[in-house]
Amino acid sequence: MKIAIIGTGRVAAALGKGWATRGHMITFASRQPGSEKVAALVEAAGPRAAAASVADAVARSSTVVLAVPFSAAQETLARAGNLAGKVLADCTNPIAPGLRPLYDSSTSGAEQIAAWAPGARVVKAFNTTGAENMAAPAYPGGAATMFLCGDDELAKAAVWQLAEELGFEPVDAGALAAARHLENLALLWIHLAQVNGLGRSIAFRLLRR
Ligand SMILES: NC(=O)c1ccc[n+]([C@@H]2O[C@H](COP(=O)([O-])OP(=O)(O)OC[C@H]3O[C@@H](n4cnc5c(N)ncnc54)[C@H](OP(=O)(O)O)[C@@H]3O)[C@@H](O)[C@H]2O)c1
Repeated sequence: MKIAIIGTGRVAAALGKGWATRGHMITFASRQPGSEKVAALVEAAGPRAAAASVADAVARSSTVVLAVPFSAAQETLARAGNLAGKVLADCTNPIAPGLRPLYDSSTSGAEQIAAWAPGARVVKAFNTTGAENMAAPAYPGGAATMFLCGDDELAKAAVWQLAEELGFEPVDAGALAAARHLENLALLWIHLAQVNGLGRSIAFRLLRR
């Protein structure tokens, strides 16, 4: 799969390295694709990785992963070119100061992103756990769960596969509006890890019987 990862930070590095290792072609989309920092990331991700501007990376990829601060999402998508028909995995978390949700329960960051990226097949994913878990989702009790949701079943299946390849147990949480819950779950993960002192080596796992 040809995947553009917009962003070159912690989430982009974990996902990009993981998928490049598993045979996908990764283009890291950066505001400064020629910078030393980005060159180091490309080298660390291996021969299937490259860097480009946001518009170029999106143009050459069928799947786009948005891994920028939510505050930069609208402007970033405006620079991305035509996203119609592309799978757009949204990893962002819209967080207001004081670790509060930016939106009330009538919408979500993912639904805003769908409005800012007309025609994109938006899937919320990779937002409910830390970047360290994206690099290593295996725990003694089993694989960490990766919740995802979206309105396009084929797009969701593609992101499901990408989550599974990294070692997660994917769980379909339903339509894109369920991102309201996934974004709140992310707040709980951050609260537990950073406020409540559990640290970042924690992950959610859905149990069944
Ligand atoms: N860190 C986590 O554990 C984690 C877990 C789940 C979800 N998330 C979410 O995933 C997203 C990325 O998180 P991250 O931790 O990877 O962030 P990060 O390390 O700060 O990296 C963000 C990247 O976004 C790009 N960017 C584009 N516009 C930007 C702007 N105006 N200001 C700053 N950076 C900008 C930058 O790449 P260039 O400079 O190359 O353009 C930067 O490397 C966020 O929405 C976050 O809430 C994070």
